Amino acid sequence: MSISVPHGGELINRFNPDYPVEERWKEVELDAVALSDLELIGIGGYSPLTGFMGEKDYRSVVEGMRLSSGLPWSLPITLPVSQEKAEELTIGEAVKLVHGGVVYGVLQVEEIYVPDKEVEAEAVYRTGDRAHPGVERLWKRGEGYVGGPIQLLNRTQPRFADYHLDPAQTREAFQKRGWKTIVGFQTRNPVHRAHEYIQKTALETVDGLFLNPLVGETKADDVPADVRMESYHVLLDGYYPADRVFLAVFPAAMRYAGPREAIFHALVRKNFGCTHFIVGRDHAGVGDYYGTYDAQHIFSHFEPGELGITPLFFEHSFYCERCGNMATAKTCPCPQEHHVFLSGTKVREMLRKGERPPATFTRPEVADVLIRGLSKKEPVTTG
Ligand code: ADX
Repeated sequence: MSISVPHGGELINRFNPDYPVEERWKEVELDAVALSDLELIGIGGYSPLTGFMGEKDYRSVVEGMRLSSGLPWSLPITLPVSQEKAEELTIGEAVKLVHGGVVYGVLQVEEIYVPDKEVEAEAVYRTGDRAHPGVERLWKRGEGYVGGPIQLLNRTQPRFADYHLDPAQTREAFQKRGWKTIVGFQTRNPVHRAHEYIQKTALETVDGLFLNPLVGETKADDVPADVRMESYHVLLDGYYPADRVFLAVFPAAMRYAGPREAIFHALVRKNFGCTHFIVGRDHAGVGDYYGTYDAQHIFSHFEPGELGITPLFFEHSFYCERCGNMATAKTCPCPQEHHVFLSGTKVREMLRKGERPPATFTRPEVADVLIRGLSKKEPVTTG
């Protein structure tokens, strides 16, 4: 018996390296986001999607967080092309999906349509502000969207090959371990004590933790994925029971869509085999665009059971100096002055200067990896 049923009932597999490609087919160039989406569609990470969305699904997702079939889905997965490219393409033809001179896939062009990006931005990101990194990217990408089913022909060269697993592989790994309940944890950050606290609190009630850091495109001032990966290793080695944790990377791009992305993150982790998914404070948020718990509230938009994965909500967690333990407002009676709180920006600033944040915030071993890793990188102030 499988641990969790994939979204829509069946794990999609569109990977076919032997798919016959004709030389004369036109090419559509993929950006890094589209390339990661292509791969995730192909390997079933985005089940039940079998291709880039056509207009009906796109509108239905933007307007009501559902595919046109009625199945919950919160983010548009689209293939943007320039206006010139859109004019060049014909409905019904097959095109090569290319990145850096390599043909990664084939798309059967079923539709070419023009999105209303203002509507998309307001619905998906809850803002039209182009300073929002997701909205900025939305406007930077092509004016037309091409929809249709894909075939994945080539896999990308993964940077973290040992940890780059397909949903079928993670499902098998969970089953081998005998786990029936698995909690997924999305992160684009090093694992600080607050993350560790909510993961371990969840682990008290489920069989396994699927630590699934996102390693696709992120904004420039997020900690680079290679440094984060090293930090996860030292943390897991020192502080986690090896037989209760499974680490694999999530190759998708970060959207910074807050609440909508939390639903998306949960559904995709269901496809990777999770039964539960952690949503803490300001999940997938950026700046002040979302309320602290908006990404939790959005789950009530769906009937219980409709998503097929159980969200585990956590309050803002911190170390309380007076209690001498990790806590949240739900469990700690002390005034805020006893709570260790550092903003992400502040922590990155300290690390770049070679300063260790307090051990109550970040494990020293993790801090050392981050200091070493970040000192090698150029400091970035925008993003
Ligand atoms: S995210 O963009 O990938 O969501 P991040 O890596 O910071 O960002 O968070 C990973 C998960 O931990 C998210 O579910 C987030 O809500 C949660 N989280 C981060 N920091 C805290 C905290 N201090 N207290 C509770 N939950 C947190």
